[in-house]
Amino acid sequence: MDITEAREFARSKCEKDTTYRHLVSVEGVMRALSRRFGENEETWALTGLFHDLDQDITDSDPSRHALQAAEWLREVAVDELVINGVLAHNFEENRTDLMSKAIVHADAVAGLLVATALVRPEKSAGMKVSSVRKKLKEKAFAPGVNRDEINDVEDSIGISVEDLVALGIEGLQQVAPEIDL
Ligand SMILES: [Fe+2]
Repeated sequence: MDITEAREFARSKCEKDTTYRHLVSVEGVMRALSRRFGENEETWALTGLFHDLDQDITDSDPSRHALQAAEWLREVAVDELVINGVLAHNFEENRTDLMSKAIVHADAVAGLLVATALVRPEKSAGMKVSSVRKKLKEKAFAPGVNRDEINDVEDSIGISVEDLVALGIEGLQQVAPEIDL
């Protein structure tokens, strides 16, 4: 599945536009992370794009979250590596390789970056690492963002919080035209 088809597939599964925008933002962050690690960008992009595919229909039954997505992805024969990465963001036992660990941090930092972009007139353009790090410390800002999943990135995948934020900004800027950010 190429990225255009993958985004169409993601759009077809999202009931809310905010969910679709979140998916694409995580796709962007995963792209930048894959390049940093010299990994396969398309595989990482799809994992980001599909990680919350079932968000809008599992809202009422969180125990199905990621499992429903995995089912849909198997139906269209998406790579098992991607499916494992999707499962990993909700199930620790699936965090078995670099990509399935990275998705957790990409998810959290994308949430913080999108919230930051939304309060700036220039959106993601010209966003600075230092201002995002200030937002990270402001607990009242975007309270739904799990700060631990950003702050523990070094222990988990060996890059600093600074690098995660810098790569996250780069990744978000790359997909920004698709999600008006
Ligand atoms: Fe997510």
